[in-house]
Amino acid sequence: DLATAVEESVHGIRVIKAFGRGPHVYAGFSAQAKSLQETEITKAKTLASFLLTVVAVPETILGIGLLIGIAQVANGTLSVGSLVAYFAIAAVIAGPVEGMGMLLGMTLSTKTALDRHFEVMDSINDIDSPAQPRVPAERDGSVKLEHVRFAYPDTAGSHRPILADINLEIRPGETMALVGITGSGKSTLLNLVPRLHEATAGEVLIHGQDVKDWDLQELRTEIAVAFEDTTLFSTSIRGNVLLGAPENLDEQQREALLAEALDVAQAQFAYALPEGVDTLIGEEGLSLSGGQRQRIALARAIAARPSVLVLDDPLSALDVRTEELVTERLREVLAGTTTLIVAHRPSTVMLADRVALLRDGRIDAVGSHAHLLSTNEHYRFVIASLDDEDQPATVEVSR
Ligand SMILES: Nc1ncnc2c1ncn2[C@@H]1O[C@H](COP(=O)(O)OP(=O)(O)OP(=O)(O)O)[C@@H](O)[C@H]1O
Ligand SMILES: [Mg+2]
Repeated sequence: DLATAVEESVHGIRVIKAFGRGPHVYAGFSAQAKSLQETEITKAKTLASFLLTVVAVPETILGIGLLIGIAQVANGTLSVGSLVAYFAIAAVIAGPVEGMGMLLGMTLSTKTALDRHFEVMDSINDIDSPAQPRVPAERDGSVKLEHVRFAYPDTAGSHRPILADINLEIRPGETMALVGITGSGKSTLLNLVPRLHEATAGEVLIHGQDVKDWDLQELRTEIAVAFEDTTLFSTSIRGNVLLGAPENLDEQQREALLAEALDVAQAQFAYALPEGVDTLIGEEGLSLSGGQRQRIALARAIAARPSVLVLDDPLSALDVRTEELVTERLREVLAGTTTLIVAHRPSTVMLADRVALLRDGRIDAVGSHAHLLSTNEHYRFVIASLDDEDQPATVEVSR
C-alpha cells in the first residue's frame, strides 16, 4: 500500500503541486508509514513471544522432570542410571523434534507462497497461451464481434456489465467509427480486439479466428493501436515511431516508413527538433506537447503496417486545421486497412465508411452517418453533443 501511494504521488506530482496538496499527501504518507512501522513491530513482538514459547516450554518441562527425578531418586523409587538415561534420550530427541517443528513452519509458509505463485501463473497462462495457438489460413482483414459480453472483474458491486451483447462486423478494409456517449464503453470495446482484456463471454474474431486461439505475439503484430492516453517511451522519435514496424525491412525502407508515418500524422515538427528524429523524448529527454505526443502515437500505429488498426479518438488533442490535414492523409492510409476508430468529433466520423452506435452495452445501430442521422434519435443526440468543428467542447485533462 505504501509503495502504491508513493508511486501514485510521484506520477501525479504536477497535479499535487498545482493543487497545493503537498502537505496533505505527505501526511497521508506519514500515516501509512506509521502503520507499516506498527505492523512490523507487532510482527517482531509476535515472533519473539512465539520463539520464547518454543524455547521455554521444553526447557521448563525438562526442569520439572529433573526436580521430580531427583525426588524419586532420593526416596529410592528411581535409579540414578534411569534418570541419567532419561535426560540423555531427551537431549538426543530434542534436536530432531525441534527440526520437525521448524520444517512444519517452513512447509506452511512455503505452501502459501507456492499457492499464490501458481494462482498468478495459471491466470497468466489462461490469458497468454491457448492450448494450440493457431494462425488463420487466410488473413482477410475482417473483425467480428459476436455476442460479446464484458464486465470489469473488480466491479463486484454493480452487476450490470459494461458491454452486454455486442454484435459487430467490420468488413475487410472497411473503416468503422464507434460513437457513443462518454462512459458508454467505447475504449473498453477497443481493448477486446488486441485481447488486452478478455471478453467475459462471446467471441472476438480477427481474420475469422477467435482471439483466444491466436498466438498472442502474432495477433498483436496484426493489430496496431493508438489509445486515448498516449504512452511514449524514453527513446528517440525514431525509436517510438518504428516500435512496431515490420522487422524484415532494410535501413532505407525503415527510413521511408518513418518519413511516411510522420507525414501522414502531420508530425513533421519532429524534423525541427534539436536532433531531428533522433531527439530523445520522454523522461530523459524533451517533453512533447499533448498534440505532438498524440501525433507520434498515431504515426507509431501507422508505421506498424497492421492489417487491423484500432484508434481511440486519435485526433482529440489537435487543433482543427491540423486535424483536417491528418484526416485527409489518414483517409488514404485507411483505404486498405480494416479500422475501428472511436470518434468524438464529427470530422472523425466522416472518415468512416460506416458508423456503429454504442448504447447501454449494445450496438444500437450501424449505418452511414447520414442514414443514422435521419433514422436514429439517440445518434442525433450523441452527434449534437459532440463538439463542433470550431468549438471544442471537451477539455483536455492532464492524466
Ligand atoms: N479498468 C477499469 N476497471 C473498472 N471499470 C472501468 C475500467 N475502465 C473503465 N471502466 C468503466 O467502464 C465504463 C466504460 O468506460 P470506457 O473507458 O470504455 O468508456 P468510453 O466510452 O471510452 O468513454 P470516453 O468517451 O469518455 O472515452 C465506465 O463506466 C468506466 O467507469
Ligand atoms: Mg474512451
